[in-house]
Amino acid sequence: MARHLITSAIPYINGIKHLGNLVGSQLPADLYARYLRGRGHEVLFLCATDEHGTPAELAAAKAGKPVAEYCAEMHAVQAEIARGFRLSFDHFGRSSSPQNHRLTQAFAGRLADAGLIREVSERQMYSRADGRFLPDRYIEGTCPNCGFDSARGDQCDNCTKQLDPTDLINPHSTISGSTDLEIRETKHLYLRQSTLRQQLSDWIDSKTDWPILTTSIARKWLDDGDGLQDRGITRDLDWGIPVRKGDAPWPGMEGKVFYVWFDAPIEYIACAQEWVDAGKGTDWQRWWRTDKGAADVRYTQFMGKDNVPFHTLSFPATILGSGEPWKLVDYIKSFNYLNYDGGQFSTSRGRGVFMDQALEILPADYWRWWLLSHAPENSDSEFTWENFQTSVNKDLADVLGNFVSRITKFCRSKFGETVPEGGQWGPQEQALCDELTTRIRAYEGHMDAIEVRKAAAELRAIWVAGNEYLQSAAPWTSFKTAPETAAMQTRLGLNLIRLYAVLSRAFIPDAAASLMDAMGTGDDGWPGDIEAALTALPAGHAFTVPEVTFRKITDEERQDWQERFAGIRT
Ligand code: MF3
Ligand code: ZN
Repeated sequence: MARHLITSAIPYINGIKHLGNLVGSQLPADLYARYLRGRGHEVLFLCATDEHGTPAELAAAKAGKPVAEYCAEMHAVQAEIARGFRLSFDHFGRSSSPQNHRLTQAFAGRLADAGLIREVSERQMYSRADGRFLPDRYIEGTCPNCGFDSARGDQCDNCTKQLDPTDLINPHSTISGSTDLEIRETKHLYLRQSTLRQQLSDWIDSKTDWPILTTSIARKWLDDGDGLQDRGITRDLDWGIPVRKGDAPWPGMEGKVFYVWFDAPIEYIACAQEWVDAGKGTDWQRWWRTDKGAADVRYTQFMGKDNVPFHTLSFPATILGSGEPWKLVDYIKSFNYLNYDGGQFSTSRGRGVFMDQALEILPADYWRWWLLSHAPENSDSEFTWENFQTSVNKDLADVLGNFVSRITKFCRSKFGETVPEGGQWGPQEQALCDELTTRIRAYEGHMDAIEVRKAAAELRAIWVAGNEYLQSAAPWTSFKTAPETAAMQTRLGLNLIRLYAVLSRAFIPDAAASLMDAMGTGDDGWPGDIEAALTALPAGHAFTVPEVTFRKITDEERQDWQERFAGIRT
């Protein structure tokens, strides 16, 4: 039994996430956490909301609420939706927690003591009408790179170029619209991460088993030269973690807060403290401090590709720079983007299907299955309603659902609602057992390697094998001439349902739970010997015929949803 720390990139607080966000971090992280728990490992699975920065302030202003109140409400909303999708976080924390305030300030203090922070006097846009500086998204203007007329201060949404507010042409305040702006001097803290370049480069090079997507992005940032420039870690904002040097004030930094990307990853650690403070755990240090037992922990992070530079370079720079024995990530699983019906999912433009809307239409398992079996691992992938309908109807309804309903209903009608006795396995049963053994070992291999699509394909093949067996064994035919054989085949079929529930639980937890329920068993141990797993339910064991496991999506529904989600969310 091993110990696994798993974190998902923490979603921004501003609004409900879309399915593209979900499949890029939280959902595959949940899959992995559930799988490892199922195999008997000790798992700590953490996620939180990312609550600071201009997006949070602007969203709160738009909602007409004080930002703290807005964040508290949105955290509750996101937590509820996460429950709806059965995301099995051990704790869903908040980057605005007191724990994160203390820890972020402590990290800054350590970095300063290590000589890794310098104070820089910067020229920043100041709005006279608003009486404040306008960092990042508080300012918009024309992109100097592509000419797009609403480029934000930190980045152009059109050409993705990272920008500095002072680069913008014809800038205006997004608070008041005022163009009465001037450049003023302000002092900020910079993390001298360039001094850690060699250390980070060696560390990345040592990770030869990481996905190419992860290492190629990290290497590009390291080698491009400007990727590892010293970066500003403070902002002139009200909402955020006040700049302090540990417990002490930071002279000259009064009224400033840390930059959201400085404090957000530190929340991964603070979240474990929140987990303990919430009474759900007793010791966070054995997960995070290598001097307190965390050296034995395997730490895996999940994220979309846009997050990779922060997790391969900036956050490790914070950790290494502190000189303290914090746990560094062991494996980073990153994802490409999921597109929506010929374009991009977009939160700012309300395009695509959002998590709350998805759950209004269909239960979580339908979405979990489609998203995971189409995870954008090797390239971007695309959600279309046709593809969704086809996958659900084929994989879930025809293959798995139909298998379950045929065998349980057949048994009920011929033998009643208990597992029948019957004779010994024949060559066909042995062949199925051998095939399943090979496939289940392959499935474990893909899950261990977090090859999500391959694992889903193997799981589907495992379901198909049972279906094909049932089709060719045809107990409804053999029953007429050899009822003993039909009984044995039926016994095997019922045992397959239990085995499928155990194997499928990480993908489709609700369906798995109802199948276990219907089979009247709590025996959910991971199958070692497959023959033993296929005889776990003995003759005479009572079961019930489950409700429809998965229903089909009709053409009318598909068309209806297609139209309903064609526009933008208002
Ligand atoms: N909120 C960021 C996003 O959604 C992710 C932050 S991950 C962390 O892209 F490392 F900062 F925690
Ligand atoms: Zn541009």
